[in-house]
Amino acid sequence: MMKKLNRRQFITLTAASAGTALAASWGWQKFNSAQISVQPAIELPKWHKSTDGLLEINLEASNRAVKLGDQQAYLLTYNGQIPAPRLEAKPGDTVRIRFINNLAQPTNLHYHGLHIPPTGNADNVFLSIDPGESFNYEFTIPANHPAGTFWYHPHLHGLVAEQLFGGLAGLFVVRGELDEIPEIKAAKEEFLVLQDFAFDGEGRLMSSARMSIMTGREGDVITVNGESNPSLSLPAEGLVRWRILNASTSRFYRLALEKHPFYLIATEGGALEQPVEVSELLLTPGQRVEVLVKGDRQPGQYRLLNLPYNRGAIGMGMMGSRGMMGGNRNTPTVLATVNYDSPVKPAALPKKLAAIPALPTPQQVRRLELNHGMAAGMGMVFLINGQPFEHQRIDTQVKLDTVEDWEIVNTGMMDHPFHLHVNHFQVISRNDQPEPYRAWKDTVLVPRGETVRIRIPFRDFPGKTVYHCHILDHEDLGMMGNLLIQT
Ligand code: C2O
Ligand code: CU
Ligand code: CU
Repeated sequence: MMKKLNRRQFITLTAASAGTALAASWGWQKFNSAQISVQPAIELPKWHKSTDGLLEINLEASNRAVKLGDQQAYLLTYNGQIPAPRLEAKPGDTVRIRFINNLAQPTNLHYHGLHIPPTGNADNVFLSIDPGESFNYEFTIPANHPAGTFWYHPHLHGLVAEQLFGGLAGLFVVRGELDEIPEIKAAKEEFLVLQDFAFDGEGRLMSSARMSIMTGREGDVITVNGESNPSLSLPAEGLVRWRILNASTSRFYRLALEKHPFYLIATEGGALEQPVEVSELLLTPGQRVEVLVKGDRQPGQYRLLNLPYNRGAIGMGMMGSRGMMGGNRNTPTVLATVNYDSPVKPAALPKKLAAIPALPTPQQVRRLELNHGMAAGMGMVFLINGQPFEHQRIDTQVKLDTVEDWEIVNTGMMDHPFHLHVNHFQVISRNDQPEPYRAWKDTVLVPRGETVRIRIPFRDFPGKTVYHCHILDHEDLGMMGNLLIQT
């Protein structure tokens, strides 16, 4: 079903730019598996669904030889898969994950976007699971948890970027009210996991030392569900629902579908109040959207494009210009192609999706400044309020059952997507301009030179957790803070 990478098409699209590196890096024909100690590919289920209120699975992290597009690559995988198996549960379900670390490094698991405890055997990012060790994660998804598209990935500070870039990421879907809306239920559902990779000539991951980590590493091989330019279809009923995850370490995606708008129905924290029509979507690392796409009377082939975006740069050229820039600056690239041969029936969009309450006046207002600088003995570091991450220091203390406004100010030279664990928030304003519609989010872009104000209700779960930049190299290089939620 999946279309192979069409080299000529890519080169046409990316001519005149550094994007031609993409074609070059796909030339690894002559790998020698004898030199690499990895386990062979395995075939385990690609998704797991809860039954009778329980989702119970074994999850193994390991180095594997996998097929990526039509090439062989050596990646870090959960259960041998790129992307990792999709997990599906419902509000009220218990989740038991017997996790085995067969990587060569310590690691752990984070359940990005789930509103569950940050402690014990739940979403505890302070755990470290050594190579060869296993750990039993267990938690219950609250009965009033929103339906939405969440995900899981490693979160051991210092190794997050490297491990995610190796491929360790999978969807965690919570099914609920949104999925029961008739128009949405009738739509064909597809999942789009966006990842990028960089390889040496033998299909092995490029080492961190060779990547531009201060900018945030980006790979020139971009995949959707582990494929290059897969072919997607629209059903005859005319409506498709895409759940899109940016699981890249640093790469932003500015998405547009030729001749079709997107109808945005959900952000990271679940459903919007009603669909919002947009022609483009900017998806930073960590972010998810759910959109509806309507087919029309013009059958054909439409490309899902990644448009240029400049996310800023640091320094003054000491590393050469290629390493200094973040993002796809010049030309669009193709992520996937949508095909339909005959005109489709005009489909109706849902009118109401969910109710999103306005949050009460905050009890506390804080300011968080994002920037970078030099630290003695550490070189370039990324900072929140002038400080790089420190395991033992509590940076922010809040009270459970209160609401706070955080004013996040980016005084640096690069964009930073700000992410908070455990509790969803609403964006109140950007540069004092009120946000046009309400949405629950867990990651918000704070562009360089700009200020974003978010409102956070701290609910249900006390304990220590974190907030950070979701360009995971920036997180590993210090742009993270400890948050203590007290009873
Ligand atoms: Cu997706 Cu703290 O991360
Ligand atoms: Cu997270
Ligand atoms: Cu950042």
